[in-house]
Amino acid sequence: MRVLIVGSGAREHALASGLRSCDVIVTPGNAATPTPSVPVRADDLDGLVNLALKERVDLVVVGPEVPLVLGLVDRLEDAGIKAFGPTRAAARLEGSKAFMKHFCATHGIATSPFAVFDDADRASAYIEKERRPLVVKADGLAAGKGVVVAQTSAEALWAVDQIMRARVFGAAGDAVVIEDVLGGEEASFHVICDGERAFPLAAAQDHKRVGDGDRGPNTGGMGAYAPAPVVTDEIASKVMERVVGPTLRGMAQMGAPFRGVLFVGLMIEHGEPRVLEFNVRFGDPETSVIVPLVRLAGPGLLEVLDAAARGKLSELRAPTWNAWNGAAMAVVMAADGYPGAPRLGDRIRGLDASLEPGAFVFHAGTKRLADGAVVTAGGRVLAVGGLGATLGEAHRIAYGAVGAIHWDGEHHRSDIGHRALVRGGA
Ligand SMILES: Nc1ncnc2c1ncn2[C@@H]1O[C@H](COP(=O)(O)OP(=O)(O)OP(=O)(O)O)[C@@H](O)[C@H]1O
Ligand SMILES: [Mg+2]
Repeated sequence: MRVLIVGSGAREHALASGLRSCDVIVTPGNAATPTPSVPVRADDLDGLVNLALKERVDLVVVGPEVPLVLGLVDRLEDAGIKAFGPTRAAARLEGSKAFMKHFCATHGIATSPFAVFDDADRASAYIEKERRPLVVKADGLAAGKGVVVAQTSAEALWAVDQIMRARVFGAAGDAVVIEDVLGGEEASFHVICDGERAFPLAAAQDHKRVGDGDRGPNTGGMGAYAPAPVVTDEIASKVMERVVGPTLRGMAQMGAPFRGVLFVGLMIEHGEPRVLEFNVRFGDPETSVIVPLVRLAGPGLLEVLDAAARGKLSELRAPTWNAWNGAAMAVVMAADGYPGAPRLGDRIRGLDASLEPGAFVFHAGTKRLADGAVVTAGGRVLAVGGLGATLGEAHRIAYGAVGAIHWDGEHHRSDIGHRALVRGGA
């Protein structure tokens, strides 16, 4: 089977590693992925359809949200190419936060109370009236930068100015969602969906801040581990029954059945999960820890993605929840300057060192030069990890591998997994 993966991060490299049994190409890819001779960008829909036709691929797996929200899956289906990912209509669960909140309200899915505004003056007036901490979110896609958790009204007003008046995210700021601040612990819950059925993957936890102790500015994610003990079996069942079930039924009723991976961003407090957000694609860095665990757990990744794309998850026997007999951790190694403008072109050393069993290195912002050297080519450069019997072992293997790799200005967090490890998850 020939598979085209769209994207260029550690997520796509991890997916490619999980699909090793087939013939995989990744576009635009990075230094470690098999890429086409003329790479196509992930937002070039015409180019991607042409590439899939030219390469005669049997399945396209779409990594990032932008092409999904633009309708890549619809375009591929029109061209007769099978794709894993939601249609444009189904991708609105991520592409419009206002749509997502109204959808949750209609279907009784627990999320924070909210209001939606398409007028900046009304949004500001609401904030001045409420005078309390609020979360302000650009309605559309903003590459993870469109959310401000505002402790003061001044901060919330500033967020409305940026999003709706200065329009720093363009049309994504035509509307804002303003919602209550939720307390608790976050987790990423991924389910593979075929329109009707869902197959849960190990729950993961990301680390959004750049520095140890969750300090410093937000990033795309500095590391992850799975399974996340905060998602107990009981919480997982609640999420399946109260979130995933109603979401699949609600989307099907709207004529937009959800196929692909639904990433439920959860806030868990006092044993109750509430939905912070939906994403309609695999998380990055979460995928770097989910894929190694899936490979332990029964049906292969290819079988699962292919069955979901065909609407036939019923053909597979889903592993029971928490049948995972292992744990995985990934540490993101970032370039100098990240999450601001990263310095590019630094030579990465130690990539050819032999790895301990269980260790893995997924590339993100990397590029191979003509002389074979691999250099930094983005902010998040590598996701380096370990798979072990316990989280403690995964941690030891992951940081062992991190210690062998160097470049000028490299930085990473040294406390990935701290919430689970202090709980005794090791
Ligand atoms: N209601 C809320 N209460 C508390 N924190 C929140 C709330 N909404 C969002 N956050 C925080 O802001 C982060 C980003 O919010 P959200 O997930 O909605 O935005 P996003 O831009 O879609 O993020 P991503 O890039 O992860 O998809 C969350 O991970 C969470 O830490
Ligand atoms: Mg999101």
